[in-house]
Amino acid sequence: MKSVELKNGIYWVGAIDWAVRDFHGYETPRGTTYNNYLLMDDEITLVDTVKHDFAEISIQNIRSIVEPAKIKNIVINHIENDHMTSIDRIMALCPDAAIYITEKGRKGLSRFYDISRWNVKVVKTGDTLSIGKRTLLFIETPMLHWPDSMMTYVKEEKLLFSQDGFGQHIASTSRFDDEYTTCQSLSELEDAIVDYYANILMPFGHILKNKIADIEKLGIEIDTIAPDHGIIFRAHPGMVINKYLDMANGKSDLSVAIIYDTMWHSTERMTIPMMKGVRDQGIDCKVIKLRATPQSVAVKEFWKSRGLLLGTPTLNNIMYPSVATFLTYLRGLRPKNRIAGAFGSYGWGGGAVKEAYEFFKKLGIETFEPGLEVLYRPSREDDLKAYDYGAAFAKKVIEYHSKFQ
Ligand code: FEO
Repeated sequence: MKSVELKNGIYWVGAIDWAVRDFHGYETPRGTTYNNYLLMDDEITLVDTVKHDFAEISIQNIRSIVEPAKIKNIVINHIENDHMTSIDRIMALCPDAAIYITEKGRKGLSRFYDISRWNVKVVKTGDTLSIGKRTLLFIETPMLHWPDSMMTYVKEEKLLFSQDGFGQHIASTSRFDDEYTTCQSLSELEDAIVDYYANILMPFGHILKNKIADIEKLGIEIDTIAPDHGIIFRAHPGMVINKYLDMANGKSDLSVAIIYDTMWHSTERMTIPMMKGVRDQGIDCKVIKLRATPQSVAVKEFWKSRGLLLGTPTLNNIMYPSVATFLTYLRGLRPKNRIAGAFGSYGWGGGAVKEAYEFFKKLGIETFEPGLEVLYRPSREDDLKAYDYGAAFAKKVIEYHSKFQ
């Protein structure tokens, strides 16, 4: 896809990755894009680069507007590999360009490249760079989501280059939210926003809230948010900011996700009456089998719901491996404001449900106890117990959810 103008003289010059399905272990069923931006001004400025495999595509997009040798400034908002690993290719074309980066970014960059040959300028929050008609304002955003991260704001355009923040893993020929919601739907876009937040930004909600407040204090007006992945927000920038604030403030759906795996279908069989028990309390319930679902999707569904019912059979006295993997992934994401119960079948002495609760406590989330265990195969009586367990859990979820209203 060619370059696309997003403001007068400001172009998207990135690349679409239609094929990526494994993004450092995070499943990306919609693919993604690596967005970077070219500002045509007295000093031609490139904001971010792309993943190394896509360097030529981005360079061709730049060439469709200007010879890369004319680039004077390069802003590196973030040094993760998907945004920075073509900087050497770009610098070979404009070796005299100045690189603007945070101090932590500079240190990180020096671990990838010999930067002694480059003109690297360290910036911090509040520093500005006049490029002609426009002035760039740098805003450090440490741990959103790496220590080096920053955003770059163009006051004259009310435009925020938000790097990973507000991104989504979507490959599409639509560059803008109004285009995407016409070709696809707003709900599809919102789902991708939640998916990205859940899998990348969940641990940093408190930092995010503070940073949005800081940006408001700077008196920054935003009419366009241009992230480094996915769709650019020019019609609904407020929507994505509010969605982030809601998630950072602990909002979720009043719903339950039953996330489970199974050996011989006994734990699976428990999910059906349990789901009915939840549903009969008037709240929505999704049932997700881990081995049939990308882990990132299971995490998104967990995050969307206030309550988790985790189903695990006992294998050799401990949790089933796919369930343990899911909880380990979740532990790194440090979830908050959720409540969980556990259930499962066992054949010998049990142990998986007990271990699941130990894990919930490590996660620091609320628990609904005790769990529900079934020996070998659920009987008719066990089906009724599973229904009652689902109903009782749903009542607890409704009560817990009310704290966040
Ligand atoms: Fe899209 Fe943190 O890299």
